[in-house]
Amino acid sequence: MAVAGCRIIDLPRITDPRGNLTFIEQSQHVPFEIRRVYYLYDVPGGESRGGHAHKTNEAFIVSASGSFDVVVRDGVDERRFFLNRPYYGLYIPAMTWRELENFSSGSVCVVLASQLYEPDDYYRDYDEFIGAAGHEQ
Ligand code: TYD
Repeated sequence: MAVAGCRIIDLPRITDPRGNLTFIEQSQHVPFEIRRVYYLYDVPGGESRGGHAHKTNEAFIVSASGSFDVVVRDGVDERRFFLNRPYYGLYIPAMTWRELENFSSGSVCVVLASQLYEPDDYYRDYDEFIGAAGHEQ
């Protein structure tokens, strides 16, 4: 099940009086080859992002600044993850519906992705996604 595959991964923390540092290495911390990085920022209060699932793309989401919730669903299970530290990442496998909400002011959501941007890889209709997910089980 896709939601069962979602997990928080602890990232390395190099603490320093000059400011802390976290790094992410392919294969070491992210269980896929990173082909794309994008980030969400300037999210107005009360807005939500996501609202889709991917057929093959895997994602690793980090709150680089501030906080937000990620709600994941696969048609059977649902889980809410609260991301509020730059040293936690949330791994999301393919075929997982995700919604990002409750963004704090000034938050920055960094997403590492396993695939280049491909519109055909999206399910944007929840019922269509549930139908396809049901066939996979
Ligand atoms: P979308 O994936 O719906 O954003 P989110 O899931 O974060 O709410 O993408 C919004 C728009 O940005 C859409 O027109 C496609 C475009 N886009 C790209 O061109 N490249 C990308 O890598 C991503 C993630 C989106």
